[in-house]
Formats: sequence, structure tokens, C-alpha cells
Amino acid sequence: MSQQVGGKMSWQTIKTIRDKWSGKLILKGILSQQDAIKAQKLGVDAIIVSNHGGRQLDKVPSAVSVLSELDKSLFNKDYLVFDSGIRSGGDIVSSLASGADFVFLGRPFLYALASGGKQGVDYLIEKLIKELSNTAQLLGCMVVDDIDSKYVVERTRNI
Ligand SMILES: Cc1cc2nc3c(=O)[nH]c(=O)nc-3n(C[C@H](O)[C@H](O)[C@H](O)COP(=O)(O)O)c2cc1C
Repeated sequence: MSQQVGGKMSWQTIKTIRDKWSGKLILKGILSQQDAIKAQKLGVDAIIVSNHGGRQLDKVPSAVSVLSELDKSLFNKDYLVFDSGIRSGGDIVSSLASGADFVFLGRPFLYALASGGKQGVDYLIEKLIKELSNTAQLLGCMVVDDIDSKYVVERTRNI
């Protein structure tokens, strides 16, 4: 990628890729409603709302705060993906409630692999499933599809 696009990405790059590629196109790193609309207008099939785990630029909004504000009707069901900062099954539930169709985790899997090898990764998956299931049950959700925005409480800041 870096050899072909020189490490710089623009909307023109996305348009060129879209024109040449008829398969599914997923754009990662969306952090605003305006960019989600641009992506949709260019024919992108799905977006990943992500700040890349805050590793590249630590002055951007948290990905989950952006997710809550996005117009979820821009993309078809199962095409709004989320990552950055998920560390527990509870975090997965709040991401789904905030509008994600599914989520990715980055560093937790690296840490699990580094500290425990395959067993570490198996342990992490089991732990995430248990936490997700426990949180969903405590909310009264029988299936994952029951988790929706009614479980999100808007916080008001008194300064
Ligand atoms: C070591 C490492 C390398 C990464 N390299 C890339 C990359 O080349 N391209 C990219 O889009 N994201 C990259 N990411 C970001 C992940 O794909 C993902 O968005 C991020 O780790 C999610 O946040 P989390 O680690 O808090 O779960 C990288 C993450 C890590 C930890």
C-alpha cells in the first residue's frame, strides 16, 4: 500500500480504488459524520469507526464518542464496524448499544498471545464471551440483537 499510494490517502484515492474494485470496499478510520457521508457517497460498502487504538494520533476523539453520534442509516445492516479501546465484554455491549454491528479488538489479543500463547488467546475469547453474556443478561437482553440504543444513557456535564 505505502509503495502504491506513498503513505498518503485522500478521497481521490478512495474514488480511484472504488472505480477499479467492484468487490466490497471497507474504509477504516472514520471519525466524523461528514466523513461517513463522504464514504457512503463514494460507494464505500462499510466503514470501521476507529482511531486505530489512539496509536497514530492521540489528539482525535475517542472512537466510541463518534460512534454514538453517527447516522446509523447510512450503511446497510452489518456494515457499521467499530474498534479502538475495547477491553471487555461490557465494552462490546456498549459498542453494540451505541450502534456498531460488530467490533474488532487489537491489543488485547496481542497481549493474550504474548503472555499465554494459544491458551492465552483461548482464555481471552472465553472471558469476553462470558462478560458479554453476563452484561447482556443483566440488561435483560436474551440475544445480541436485543442490545440497542435504549441502553445508552446520555450524560450531561455540569461544569
Ligand atoms: C502493533 C499494531 C499494529 C497496527 N497496525 C495497523 C495498521 O498497519 N493499519 C491499521 O489500520 N491499523 C493498525 N493497527 C490498529 C489496529 O488495527 C486496531 O485499529 C487497533 O489496535 C484497535 O484498538 P485496540 O488495540 O485498542 O483494540 C495496529 C495496532 C497495533 C497494536
